[in-house]
Amino acid sequence: MKQKLMTIKNHAVSLILDTKDAKELEQIKLQFLGKSGSLTQLMKEITTLAPEERKEIGVLINETKTILEEAITTALTKHTTVKKENLAQFDVTEPGKRPSLGHIHPVTQAIEEITSIFEKIGFSRVRHPEIEWDWYAFGALNFPDNHPARDDWETFFIKQEKDPKKGSVLLTPHTSSGQIREMEKGKFPIQMLNIAKTYRRQSDASHVPMFHQFETLFIGENISITHLKGVLDYFVKSYFGQDRVSRIRPYHFQFTEPSFETDVSCGVCKGKGCRLCKEGWLELGGAGMVHPNVLKNCGIDPTKYSGFASGWGVERVLAMKEGVNIDDVRLFYANRMEFLEQF
Ligand code: DAH
Repeated sequence: MKQKLMTIKNHAVSLILDTKDAKELEQIKLQFLGKSGSLTQLMKEITTLAPEERKEIGVLINETKTILEEAITTALTKHTTVKKENLAQFDVTEPGKRPSLGHIHPVTQAIEEITSIFEKIGFSRVRHPEIEWDWYAFGALNFPDNHPARDDWETFFIKQEKDPKKGSVLLTPHTSSGQIREMEKGKFPIQMLNIAKTYRRQSDASHVPMFHQFETLFIGENISITHLKGVLDYFVKSYFGQDRVSRIRPYHFQFTEPSFETDVSCGVCKGKGCRLCKEGWLELGGAGMVHPNVLKNCGIDPTKYSGFASGWGVERVLAMKEGVNIDDVRLFYANRMEFLEQF
């Protein structure tokens, strides 16, 4: 049978080498590898062999099959490459077709820009788990047990047994959990920039269930509100433009005291008041001085160390950028090329 196989192989190869076009090749393929092709027939005859021979011959037949298939493919490429007589129709002066190039997603572009702005003043980007314990997302951040943010309707909880100390498992509803992860390391000063995915049960024109936040945390000795205001101003001018100004207004967050809402002057009316902003300001997000209870929860002495934190939305600042007029944040994740190509 080995001999028979060799003969078939040699015969096929010489025929393949002699072919002049793709049609001839097709016939040869049928003759040897088709349903009733000679190699296929040989494979059927295997059953007549002694069991110890079957395996060896089987392998050999399969090898031959591969060799013939490869030889046919190579010959086919040879037959289909441009022939001299066809060259006349080939206009070498015709301008080439530009391949369409992709680019990184607008949200990733914003993340990279934000990172480089904060890195210039000494913040380092960190990453922390997005599947997190309640302790990091709420408990250590001074949220009481019955706080509405812990409600099933606000936060996505994971079905997993509670940890006696750290509580339930959830998808991070904000990047503030990163504050605790950094502070428990106990190394000072801390200059953290935590940019991550955050998850909440909301979907409408201004909310998507998965979005991004960027969180700063600066802990050291004698850190005060003026540092916070300075960093806020620096960010607003670097990201939105030198002519924009910022302000802070009193607010409430569980994990900061005092707490602020931070605003940036409207880029459309330059702070005078218009249809977009109403009173000249656009809301950026929360900030404040880290609450002494939060410091204590991380084993930090609040009489020695103090600091500020801020947490703002990536999609939000991107949508607020001058010239980017987005009235529905869901567009960022709808994957429509006409939308994405504009960035
Ligand atoms: N985590 C808050 C939220 O998602 C935002 C925030 C407020 C972050 C105040 C902070 C802060 O760091 O100090 O709504």
